Amino acid sequence: MTENSRPIIVAYGPLYPYLMEGLERRFTVHCVAADADLATLDPAVRNARALVSFGSVGASAAIMDALPKLEMIGLFSVGYDKVDVDHARAQGIRVSNTPDVLTDDVADLAVGLLYATVRNIAANDRMVRSGAWERGEKPALSGRVTGRTIGILGLGRIGRAIAMRVAPVAGEIIYHNRRKAPESPYRYVADPIAFARESDVLIVATSGGPEAAKLVDAAILDALGAEGVIINISRGSVIDENALVAALADKRIAGAGLDVFVAEPHVPSALMAMDHVVLQPHQGSATVQTRAAMADLVLANLDAHFAGKPLVTPVV
Ligand code: DGY
Repeated sequence: MTENSRPIIVAYGPLYPYLMEGLERRFTVHCVAADADLATLDPAVRNARALVSFGSVGASAAIMDALPKLEMIGLFSVGYDKVDVDHARAQGIRVSNTPDVLTDDVADLAVGLLYATVRNIAANDRMVRSGAWERGEKPALSGRVTGRTIGILGLGRIGRAIAMRVAPVAGEIIYHNRRKAPESPYRYVADPIAFARESDVLIVATSGGPEAAKLVDAAILDALGAEGVIINISRGSVIDENALVAALADKRIAGAGLDVFVAEPHVPSALMAMDHVVLQPHQGSATVQTRAAMADLVLANLDAHFAGKPLVTPVV
């Protein structure tokens, strides 16, 4: 393929360097910043046949409309809550994501946050570093993980991978989904309030998007209760963040381990000031191995599209 005959694509970014290298080997790549003014796009960009984006940016109807030749959106994430999927479908634009390859790492991080939060690992680390331990300060006793009831909100691929990891130590694993998962060995609790009340640790693993917005609200947090801990590796929007801050501030729940926030990379300053909260900068899939596998999957989807084949991991 000569330089001129290569398909034009948009890297809606900035994108992960290994992915950019793969894109540049195959395509004529135009970089468009995630906050670019779409009205002033370079005319060459308007010939793009594919757009590559990532979870927190996605693809709005506006960027799709700004690229009249757009055939495909390759997403570098499993979550596609920031992609206007209905608009893509209506415009005949295909969409792919990166499921499966990141499941284990996201589940690992959920379990890491579970232990870090329940056993005060981050707060105690700060205490040691500050010299307070050496000066004689006594760390508070923590809660325990073993034997506790772990509630999984969203028993999909990632939820099941979390369940497998905690099964050897949990007292019981329960889950809440819109529907009971056939053949799941775990106990389904249909009522979300009862589910939260029964959970000692509630792990949010459901997918994001409008249907899941503020699924965890003040009532759920109150049902989780003063001994309860919440972990979120899904999307910030699934939890009512103001209600979470209030519940943590009033000690109506015991703690939170959070990888995701409503307006990333902004984290409410109230959360940053709380010792019973463990914060991560959205690191679920952020391992060297998984990010490379995700990039390879984005490239495989683009290759399939331009070869006229079915997408490997289609959303639309
Ligand atoms: C995704 O890919 O959607 C997840 O947020 C990874 O952490």
